[in-house]
Amino acid sequence: MSQTVSVIGAGTMGSGIAQVAATCGWQVNIIDSFPKALENSKSKLKSILNRLVEKGKLNEEQSKSILTRIHWTTNMDEIFNSHMVIEAIVENLEIKQNLFLQMESIVSEDCILATNTSSLSVLKIASACKLKSRIMGIHFFNPVPLMKLVEVIPTEKTDCKLLLEVKTILKGWGKSVVTAKDTPGFIVNRVARPFYNEALKIYEEGIADFATIDWAMKEFGGFRMGPFELMDYIGNDINYSATKAVYDGTNHDSRYKPSSIQKELVDEGFLGRKSGRGYFDYSNNASEPEPNKDDVIGNQIFIRILAMLINAAADALNNEIATRDDIDIAMTTGVNYPRGLLKWADEIGIEKVLKLLQVLQSNSNDNRYQPSPLLIKMSQDNTIFYS
Ligand code: NAI
Repeated sequence: MSQTVSVIGAGTMGSGIAQVAATCGWQVNIIDSFPKALENSKSKLKSILNRLVEKGKLNEEQSKSILTRIHWTTNMDEIFNSHMVIEAIVENLEIKQNLFLQMESIVSEDCILATNTSSLSVLKIASACKLKSRIMGIHFFNPVPLMKLVEVIPTEKTDCKLLLEVKTILKGWGKSVVTAKDTPGFIVNRVARPFYNEALKIYEEGIADFATIDWAMKEFGGFRMGPFELMDYIGNDINYSATKAVYDGTNHDSRYKPSSIQKELVDEGFLGRKSGRGYFDYSNNASEPEPNKDDVIGNQIFIRILAMLINAAADALNNEIATRDDIDIAMTTGVNYPRGLLKWADEIGIEKVLKLLQVLQSNSNDNRYQPSPLLIKMSQDNTIFYS
């Protein structure tokens, strides 16, 4: 008989996780405290499956059997026979802690309990539970069926065997799995911060406008989207709170300091595409701003943002947040960067990246440009990341 996974929270993430698991043959319970959320989840999934059938990616029979494998309910007790439970409810520590206590009282001792939190400490979520060894983070990316990356986050209490088991399950679901330390932003949400923050700083300094910075990153870096169009796509509120969570969680490390420009936008309701306006105007008659396609400025913008990204990646490695390979896999499969940042650093030259950061630091007297000790050491020893 196939195994059962229960997903708590029938929102964007929970519904996506349920779709992936059911597509891979798992029995799925989706639990939500709001019947309306369950109805929405069910009707959305039906229309997604219909579209997949229309496109020829699934046949009618497969679509039907995916739906019959999923059970939508408001009754938490139905998680009792699950092999694994994944929590994807509102991002609130106290509410998640209470839910974990409730889950623990229902499931058997060998059931794996996971949280899909994007910014909270997994250990804190688990703190009130008796059996912490079966608790970990499983951080999916949105949209779950399309994004290959999953960050698995063991706490210091997690049983290594269970971690391996979860990685095997997720690989079976077609995911690319990396392991991250239980630290703010894990890998992707931490290492990617400078893509947004440094772009905002460059704008603040009057070096270029939004369209020009976006153009520079696409033209010279090969990024699929520029920082400003991406922030508008993600939502400025969500992007701002991700930055704030990393900033707060790193004891206000100036490298992750949120931008006041973005905060003002959020306060004024300019959230991006979803509100019709963010850095750009998305109303019907709005004209698209033209970038200033100056190659010299474009190149300077690109290399400055890239150096900051490489610094964040090197620091993540130095702080043992993840391995070299996992950091590069995370950034290429989680946010579609054209190359792994550490591999990119080798290609450009560690010395060059370090010099650039040092120049930025001495010109601005700002600690955000402080090079990672690892880059300094590698430059002294004349080593590279991939030897
Ligand atoms: P959402 O707001 O779309 O869905 C949350 C669902 O949880 C709602 O349907 C709500 O009714 C339900 N819920 C709230 N409290 C509950 C409770 N006590 N018991 C049962 N159901 C409850 O949220 P979304 O975007 O799906 O996020 C869920 C989690 O995943 C959050 O922790 C978020 O930080 C994380 N996450 C979100 C990503 C995103 O891009 N949306 C990406 C990665 C992680």
